[in-house]
Amino acid sequence: MKPVVQKITCPTQSKAWGKLRKFSESFKERGFRLNSLFRDSSRFSRFSLSHNHLTLDYSKNLLDQETLKALFELSADMRLEESIEAMFEGDRINTSEDRQVLHTALRIPANENPHNEVKDCLQRMEIMVNRIHSGKWKGFSGKNIKDIVNIGIGGSDLGPRLVCDALEDFKVGEQNLHFVSNVDPSHFDEVISELNPETTIFIVASKSFKTPETALNAAIAKKWLLEASDAPVAIEKHFIAITSNKNGAIDFGVAEDNVFPVWDWVGGRYSVWSAIGLPVALSVGMESFIAFHAGAHSMDRHFQEESAEKNMPVIMALITVWYNAFFNCQSSAVVPYSHRLKELPFYLQQLSMESLGKSVTKENDQVSINTGEILWGTVGTNSQHSYFQLLHQGTQFVPIDFVAIAKTRSKSVDHNEMHNHLLANCLSQSLALMKGNSESEEAQKKVTGNKPSNTLLIDELNPFNLGCLIALYEHKVFVQSILWNINAFDQWGVELGKIISKDIYKELTSTDNESNELDSSTKNLIKLIKRNMPHK
Ligand code: F6P
Repeated sequence: MKPVVQKITCPTQSKAWGKLRKFSESFKERGFRLNSLFRDSSRFSRFSLSHNHLTLDYSKNLLDQETLKALFELSADMRLEESIEAMFEGDRINTSEDRQVLHTALRIPANENPHNEVKDCLQRMEIMVNRIHSGKWKGFSGKNIKDIVNIGIGGSDLGPRLVCDALEDFKVGEQNLHFVSNVDPSHFDEVISELNPETTIFIVASKSFKTPETALNAAIAKKWLLEASDAPVAIEKHFIAITSNKNGAIDFGVAEDNVFPVWDWVGGRYSVWSAIGLPVALSVGMESFIAFHAGAHSMDRHFQEESAEKNMPVIMALITVWYNAFFNCQSSAVVPYSHRLKELPFYLQQLSMESLGKSVTKENDQVSINTGEILWGTVGTNSQHSYFQLLHQGTQFVPIDFVAIAKTRSKSVDHNEMHNHLLANCLSQSLALMKGNSESEEAQKKVTGNKPSNTLLIDELNPFNLGCLIALYEHKVFVQSILWNINAFDQWGVELGKIISKDIYKELTSTDNESNELDSSTKNLIKLIKRNMPHK
């Protein structure tokens, strides 16, 4: 009879945890220097790995072979392999919402994909893209469409925005893409000010079709359109919806044919691969959108099939867990050395922080270790002239992911020259963070170094490689959630904010006396705001 293996519900219960603690203490006692690890000339080849056109160099981390081994043991104890399989198999791993997590099914190639609804949706998207690109889709006055405005927030905004921006060089559609997300009317006004209602269409992207920001922006978009045309067909000719709430979209006035589905097994922050990615398809065309899927799918295969020792998302996640647990690491930075990837940190912020900002385990117990990571960052080299000083000489421990593109698509000699400067800066920052200038005598001028980083080097920025990169981070986040035993796919905290905001809105706009239920801070702030309201 097989011995019954007790399920570990907290990583601290794993024997590997104790080993890791000891290693970290010994690292600190010995004054372990990253620099010294490079006495081993094979360090790079032993601490890096490539998948397709993506290389992860994790050699500049406070890690040796023994530590890595213990981290792999930890992942085995947390039953990582089983959990990966459970996700791909469609188990209901989003337990608090009792949902499957199948965003990976969205990128299975059509000829292998058992999900007919996904294939149907892609076909409908293709028809829509062709209609708009070819000029068959006309506005209410018979004109071709020139501008497309995506109205959505969170996952219904950040993904398409990142991908459209990153793949600007692959743009085939003649229409200009715009994004409105914030409920601040200045955002809508800023986008709309130059647009003509006759030649503008709106995509209302909202899985729930209930998110207040999106509903309010969609309502003012409708009003703006109806001011130009009160023809009954105007809404039908100018609105597309992407939602799992089809009736909500139809009630709003969207023609049934223009409503695209999102399924409950696609989380908002994992939805760019679904019809939520329609702005991407409209920008770069269906072929590139499929190539974007193919890149992600290749990362899915890598994640599912490679052993932990050769698995990029697993290794990245283990390193984060190691620092988080034993180096008092509170935050980490992602610094893309690519103007085209400037939106990446914002996208990853939602992916990581909405997924991992949890303090209760899947069994509803309070966690006893640090979970989540505060993820931040902006594009390099600009970041070098804003916050890098703190990374070099501050007291915080902030591991960094440098993301760099080896080859520019430009044929211009000047551009290539500049690109080389960009790459030189990227490499020199990771080197400086590692080495410091320990020879300096003066304490204030001393840069201690020993600051860890990963470098993700992408051969070139194209749809396939971008898909691969985003899927890498999705899986990294998933692995972290397994190691911490938390649910990466719900977001109850955000839901609470939505509920409270409704009550506060009522309070803010009511003429009745103030509510006694509110705390004095909120009450007085409301009072001050009301005093400044023009019509009160
Ligand atoms: O921010 C919370 C959230 O629920 C995200 O998970 C989601 O991406 C976003 O709101 C938008 O939701 P919806 O697509 O339903 O409008």
